[in-house]
Amino acid sequence: MVTSEYNHGYPAALKTAIDSVKHEWRAKPVGFVSYGGLSGGLRAVEQLRQVVVEVHMVPVRESVSFHRVKHAFAADGTTRDGAAIDSAQRMLGQLGWWATTIRAGGDIAPYPG
Ligand SMILES: Cc1cc2nc3c(=O)[nH]c(=O)nc-3n(C[C@H](O)[C@H](O)[C@H](O)COP(=O)(O)O)c2cc1C
Repeated sequence: MVTSEYNHGYPAALKTAIDSVKHEWRAKPVGFVSYGGLSGGLRAVEQLRQVVVEVHMVPVRESVSFHRVKHAFAADGTTRDGAAIDSAQRMLGQLGWWATTIRAGGDIAPYPG
């Protein structure tokens, strides 16, 4: 999920999207990419972690954050933000691990939620 942050919160449209789709979220891993001003949307992500658990998603530990987002990307869309690049690699690794593990678990027993 990609989110901006306004006044320490995530956008209402994202909440509506989570609320509108129900069973499709179940037993799915989710990673967060946030952007914003000085805080880079980190508080929005912390709020989202609470919400996605309620629809039976599995938030991974690592997230990617771009503070001062207007300065974070070159004209060709690349970034030199080493922390973000490192976090993205870790997050994608964790997403893959959880996706594989949850799928294998579903072969043993259906998700009980
Ligand atoms: C009213 C307002 C409040 C904002 N509050 C935050 C904030 O709490 N935390 C943050 O990281 N960025 C904050 N920002 C910066 C925005 O996240 C940033 O401008 C971002 O580009 C907005 O995303 P968007 O252009 O996709 O709508 C705020 C910007 C505005 C205009």
